[in-house]
Amino acid sequence: MAAPKKVCIVGSGNWGSAIAKIVGANAAQNSKFDNTVKMWVFEEIVNGRKLTEIINSDHENVKYLPGHKLPANVLAVPDLVEASSEADILVFVIPHQFVGKVCDTIKGKIKSDALGISLIKGVDEGPDGLKLISDVIQEKLGITMSVLMGANIANEVADEKFCETTIGCKNKNHGTLLKELMQTSNFRVTVVEEYDVVEICGALKVSSQYEICLLALKHKAQTYFAPKKTEVGDHKSKLLQPCAMNLGSPIFKVTCEMGALKKIGTRSSIEELEKEMLNGQKLQGPATAAEVYLILKHKNLIDKFPLFNAVYQICYEGHPVTEFISCLQNHPEHM
Ligand SMILES: NC(=O)c1ccc[n+]([C@@H]2O[C@H](COP(=O)([O-])OP(=O)(O)OC[C@H]3O[C@@H](n4cnc5c(N)ncnc54)[C@H](O)[C@@H]3O)[C@@H](O)[C@H]2O)c1
Repeated sequence: MAAPKKVCIVGSGNWGSAIAKIVGANAAQNSKFDNTVKMWVFEEIVNGRKLTEIINSDHENVKYLPGHKLPANVLAVPDLVEASSEADILVFVIPHQFVGKVCDTIKGKIKSDALGISLIKGVDEGPDGLKLISDVIQEKLGITMSVLMGANIANEVADEKFCETTIGCKNKNHGTLLKELMQTSNFRVTVVEEYDVVEICGALKVSSQYEICLLALKHKAQTYFAPKKTEVGDHKSKLLQPCAMNLGSPIFKVTCEMGALKKIGTRSSIEELEKEMLNGQKLQGPATAAEVYLILKHKNLIDKFPLFNAVYQICYEGHPVTEFISCLQNHPEHM
């Protein structure tokens, strides 16, 4: 029998901790995985104690996922290289602005045949336009990457509410293994091959959920966004899977994001807002909106994506949040 796979979760924020709850529990009861799941924790002092010590003694990430116990086999490790060097499976779940630094730290120090799976929502700007975060990680570390994306809210998943998610993985065996690591009776996983489509639909959320759905229905989203030439026509349902699910839970997201956007529009900066409202969690939407805006501008596509444009204008140019509604009412795909 093959040696049990060692798993490292790279990240320990809100989503990282919710996933640690699942991965820890699954690893503890599945002999395919090593019992100990290491979780890299960006060390910080919380209530006078090191966060790693709190997690390892109290089994709770009191800062990023308070009120939820983590399985005792999840071991918080403050040293990134120590946490990741022996891992067969690396679960990347950090805010996307830290990806470059994290990869540079572990480059050449991890197993060359490790499998990576990115749960990170966001995009990077490459010389030819949009670049997927999983491609950034793959290029930097030289490991095979998959992705997991869905309309998943960390606290709902940690509460064991019923949620669905999609793994995009080119290799069927890897997909099966990753599904075994991630799926529970309330967190249902579908595996598809088109990892790039899954990632782009997961990353371009909020306004984009709607816009991508509309455009995807016309088979156009891939032409505009996907950096690789995946045939979309035959895979329309798969393309819609992660974003359609996102549309299924708009109230929470829109309320949160709108409240946040409105506040940015009136007085607070994004950084102030993160501190004030999110207790250190990182808002990913505005950064993604800025990157997407630049790409659309560069490609002269702003007219075709008024919702992306509206999110950008509200976040960065002080436009009122109500502009978003008139964009929805007058979207060119409805006219
Ligand atoms: N929270 C969710 O509900 C959710 C759901 C799906 C996907 N995601 C995605 O998962 C990814 C991680 O999000 P999250 O919610 O776990 O994070 P978060 O915003 O809750 O936490 C921020 C994390 O960044 C770490 N950090 C702070 N400064 C750092 C630095 N200088 N270097 C490295 N790390 C630093 C903190 O320790 C913390 O672990 C994001 O891409 C997000 O879009 C989140």
